[in-house]
Amino acid sequence: MKIMAFNGSPRKKWNTATLLQKTLEGAASQGAETELIHLYDLNFKGCISCFSCKKRGGKSYGRCAVRDDLAPVFERIEAADGIVLGSPIYLGTVTGEMRSFIERLIFPYLTYTDPIQSLFPKKIRTGILYTMNVSEPDMKQRGYDRHLDLNETYLRTIFGACESLYSFDTYQFDDYSAVVADRYDPEKKAQRRKQIFPLDCEKAFQLGARVAAPRG
Ligand SMILES: Cc1cc2nc3c(=O)[nH]c(=O)nc-3n(C[C@H](O)[C@H](O)[C@H](O)COP(=O)(O)O)c2cc1C
Repeated sequence: MKIMAFNGSPRKKWNTATLLQKTLEGAASQGAETELIHLYDLNFKGCISCFSCKKRGGKSYGRCAVRDDLAPVFERIEAADGIVLGSPIYLGTVTGEMRSFIERLIFPYLTYTDPIQSLFPKKIRTGILYTMNVSEPDMKQRGYDRHLDLNETYLRTIFGACESLYSFDTYQFDDYSAVVADRYDPEKKAQRRKQIFPLDCEKAFQLGARVAAPRG
């Protein structure tokens, strides 16, 4: 059992990375071998619309033809038993790197047929987690969730199963006094970091355990 996680934050030890680490600990608790990939370490772009993955009889049909740092990653995903994506919310959606990764991950396996079919060679479990400054009601009021739900739908369509996890009102800076951020109360942020974030970590652990649970 191999579970891979993808960090869409440029920060390797902050909220998103921490939750992904917990997810992988949960997967490891089920005996899985785990790997965390930081997308910001890789050289790649989003889909370039070459359509090699859709070409009738083409040698890259159902696969991404672009040979950059994601090519070996996609090979490893085909050998994996589960994947978990994690991203901070930047301006209402996932980071640019995560968005580019999702385009490259999903589009080659998605057929332009009616109904849509998946060309991914097997069914695996997936998860996607998000960290953000806003509260849950604010996320809904701003409509982030409608866009984020689409990610879950695409992952489920291609891989067979997906669940989402949200971590709200995250702690963003080492030192709130050093930045102009009057909107946030540093004490409330610190309290939330102490009391609520550990609960999010536990949810991430459980998500990882479910993704890696033995198939029955
Ligand atoms: C460029 C940028 C844009 C952001 N935009 C939003 C946003 O639109 N909504 C939100 O709730 N948080 C926003 N944030 C806050 C981050 O989503 C939040 O702090 C997140 O937990 C950071 O993840 P990390 O600690 O893993 O890097 C933004 C942060 C940055 C750096």
